[in-house]
Amino acid sequence: MNHLTIHTQSKQHNINRHIYGHFAEHLGRCIYDGLYVGESSKVAQVRGFRQDIIDALKAINIPNLRWPGGCFADEYHWRDGIGPKAERPLRLNFWGNAPETNAVGTHEFLDLCELLNCAPYFGGNVGSGTVQEMRDWVEYLTSNYDSNLSRLRKQNGRETAWAIPFWGIGNENWGCGGHMTPEHYADLYCQYDTFVRNYGDVNMMKIASGLGGTDHNGEDIQRFMESVVKRRHPVQLEGVSIHYYIFLPHEAKHSATEFGDEEWFFVLHEANRIDHVIHQNAMVLDQYDPEKKIWLIVDEWGAWYPVEKGTPPAFLYQQNTLRDALVAAHTLHIFQNHGERVQMANLAQTVNVIQSLFLTQDDKMILTPTYHVFDLFKGHQDATYLTIDLSCPSYTHGEKSLPMLSVNASLSAQGTILLTLCNLHPRQAITLPCQFEGRIVKQVSGKILQAQTLQSHNTFENPQQVVPCAFTGFYQSEQSTLMVDLPAASIVALSIEE
Ligand code: AHR
Repeated sequence: MNHLTIHTQSKQHNINRHIYGHFAEHLGRCIYDGLYVGESSKVAQVRGFRQDIIDALKAINIPNLRWPGGCFADEYHWRDGIGPKAERPLRLNFWGNAPETNAVGTHEFLDLCELLNCAPYFGGNVGSGTVQEMRDWVEYLTSNYDSNLSRLRKQNGRETAWAIPFWGIGNENWGCGGHMTPEHYADLYCQYDTFVRNYGDVNMMKIASGLGGTDHNGEDIQRFMESVVKRRHPVQLEGVSIHYYIFLPHEAKHSATEFGDEEWFFVLHEANRIDHVIHQNAMVLDQYDPEKKIWLIVDEWGAWYPVEKGTPPAFLYQQNTLRDALVAAHTLHIFQNHGERVQMANLAQTVNVIQSLFLTQDDKMILTPTYHVFDLFKGHQDATYLTIDLSCPSYTHGEKSLPMLSVNASLSAQGTILLTLCNLHPRQAITLPCQFEGRIVKQVSGKILQAQTLQSHNTFENPQQVVPCAFTGFYQSEQSTLMVDLPAASIVALSIEE
């Protein structure tokens, strides 16, 4: 019953590295006291940004970072965040009315992106901003023509314009971004598109905020697209975003770290459901864009639990266990399976918020199990997706089930195959014969992420509870077949050389 064939000559789509993107919102302790500790902090930092986090993000080849929100973006006014820091206004943050000092603004964010060598993805304010405000921001950022705005940028320390590859026109405009109908948002999208111009040589992709938080069948995107294509003039629309969070049922008593097998199943089953959501939304886009030029961008995703006891509810601070590592691994596989349409994604959120990569406490910083998945999977970035045939048992709970295994394979430009395998079952190990069609397997090396308990997580006292280790649970049965022993609740990454 268990069998995997990797079609090594199949060479499908390129896996866009932007699927491995991240998201940092002015929310709770993500920016302030997370990424940014300030220039006078004793914590090791570069111009206020934590050195340890910069190093760790570079180590996973972070391709892009989305900023400044989220819901925050639709209340953000960019002029608050430029010029001398002492003169920047103090505002109330959308999230819990926390003080927003504006110490991190446009220049600081772009400085961070340069430190990380990643592409900036801006979210513009449609909900409470104006068309003029957004067009001015883009001119300020990207124009080298002489004008008051480019002079202002120079006065603030930046001589040449930045290249901004990704620009979001609003965020969740069906919800916190204005509670609009798809048709109303489509009208606004076209209006913003008309005035938010491209000034630079690099095309700034314009991305529509998806209308489908709960629209798992793509009906809102259908209405939005229907409305956009009616225009007499072509509209610049290169991306449509959707958000997908895993929430626990309201009556649930469990949390990020306290759960049993039933809740383990529930969360992974919810993670698996994104496959259907992507499929439905992709089918809608296929009607309007059969050549698949428009990117489907999942620019917020993750498992969202009740906050850690004793932390402010609006700050969305939560722990992160082995279960979340499996959520991340399986979700990334699903994105890659849909990689012809899903070209970008952003985990929510980078530090101290929802399913984060890092948790911080004063000068301490820990890597979460989710971080390690991005590390184990980084070889998939820009590699060629290989088709596979997988037969495996179902993982069943009550009347519901999902495949017990989640597997992806890719081929790098250097000829290495990266095979990533997750055993989603919390109790059953499995041995999987893996056949590499058309390839002799020579050198194999591997790493595994597993833990003592399902609830294992890293803490400031014990930061090494869930870390990848060398994996030796495989042997070659024939020249092209590898037998892989996958423990229950584990993630394995194998590099296979010819
Ligand atoms: O990531 C937290 C919030 O979730 C974002 O601000 C919003 O876009 C979404 O509802």
